[in-house]
Amino acid sequence: GSPFLQYRGEDLYLEDVRLADLATQHGTPLYVYSRNAMRAALAPYQQALEGRQHLICYAVKANSNLAVLQTFAQAGCGFDIVSAGELARVLAAGGQPGKVVFSGVGKTRDEMKLAMQAGVKCFNVESTAELEVLSDVASQNGLTARVSLRVNPDVDAGTHPYISTGLKGNKFGIAHELAVETYRRAAQLPGIEVVGIDCHIGSQITDVSPYLDALERVLDLVEAIESHGITLHHLDLGGGLGIRYTDETPPDARTLIGQLLARIDVRGHGHREVMFEPGRSLVGNAGVLLTEVMFLKPGEQKNFCVVDAAMNDLMRPALYEAYMGIVNTRQRRGETTTWDVVGPVCESGDWLGRDRDLNVQPGDVLAVLSAGAYGMTMASNYNSRGRAAELMVDGAQVHVIRARETVESLFAEERLI
Ligand code: LLP
Repeated sequence: GSPFLQYRGEDLYLEDVRLADLATQHGTPLYVYSRNAMRAALAPYQQALEGRQHLICYAVKANSNLAVLQTFAQAGCGFDIVSAGELARVLAAGGQPGKVVFSGVGKTRDEMKLAMQAGVKCFNVESTAELEVLSDVASQNGLTARVSLRVNPDVDAGTHPYISTGLKGNKFGIAHELAVETYRRAAQLPGIEVVGIDCHIGSQITDVSPYLDALERVLDLVEAIESHGITLHHLDLGGGLGIRYTDETPPDARTLIGQLLARIDVRGHGHREVMFEPGRSLVGNAGVLLTEVMFLKPGEQKNFCVVDAAMNDLMRPALYEAYMGIVNTRQRRGETTTWDVVGPVCESGDWLGRDRDLNVQPGDVLAVLSAGAYGMTMASNYNSRGRAAELMVDGAQVHVIRARETVESLFAEERLI
């Protein structure tokens, strides 16, 4: 268990706050995050990198609430962004543009210009075509784009196919074989300044070995690239470290980074700035989604527990068949029953958990665990459902960090004709 999420007697607490009370006061579905759990998840990254030139760029897509970004900005983090929207959030939350890296295979010219004007640290470029456009946008605006090429090391991260990104068949990155010539091209382009190299092999990775394999491949490239007189200042090894949803045993960030740094040093690359882009591992287990049990619907083949949160609030189970823990915020004594926990949306794929042994009654508040990453950021308004409110707990304090979306706001931009 987490020191931040635990039962005290029969009641589930996040830090010093009783979760059932939050549901009563703020309604459900409700995302609740622990600020200290986020800080605690960041600490092993910081400890492992202490004394070395480094930058931890929190991957905004995992959870982009301004208060979450603010928490990481205050802790000294940079940010990994994939859109002008995420850049705007980082700036609004007090993040420093000079600590931002801009990733993604499809940056628009407008986004490139905005990010350059803001003064981002680096563009993680994913293709030759993007490189040419970036150089053109830079020259047109009398600016220079600092660039790292995202190379595809062609290693199997051993994760779900939808979130594995470092294989040849993926749309991401520049193929290993083409990396050197693409760097040579980059070095010739007028609007481009080459500053580093990066890779990101996937997400929810629970082993050290794919990282070590990718690192060897990247260091081979660094040596080949520098033999052409191109200097690479930094080494960005991406994000992807997994968390425990059920029985996974991912390495601790400190262990992972310790092993990577040891290898970097052995190969004589210890002078380079080292960067990471963690998302899930910083916020995933810092958050829960609270949802109220509406109806129990026992059946011949399946028992359904209908709750007021749905796939639009939390898409991971429907999209990846992801397992997320579900517990009652007020433990009941006695027998459990096996339930499929399902939402009100009109799709058979609208489930949050299957075959879960729970002792529940209508009105109970359930907590879907590990919902701090890729929960709210992937939420939609399907079925004209307003998105959930978000709260941040800090000790015994509770902050509303996003109000519940009103139905009127959902169609405020629509017009009758
Ligand atoms: N850097 C890049 C370039 C990325 O594409 C990603 C995630 C990250 C960093 C952060 O990875 P993390 O540390 O969070 O694993 N929606 C999926 C996860 C998609 C990850 C996409 N890229 C899910 O809910 O599992």
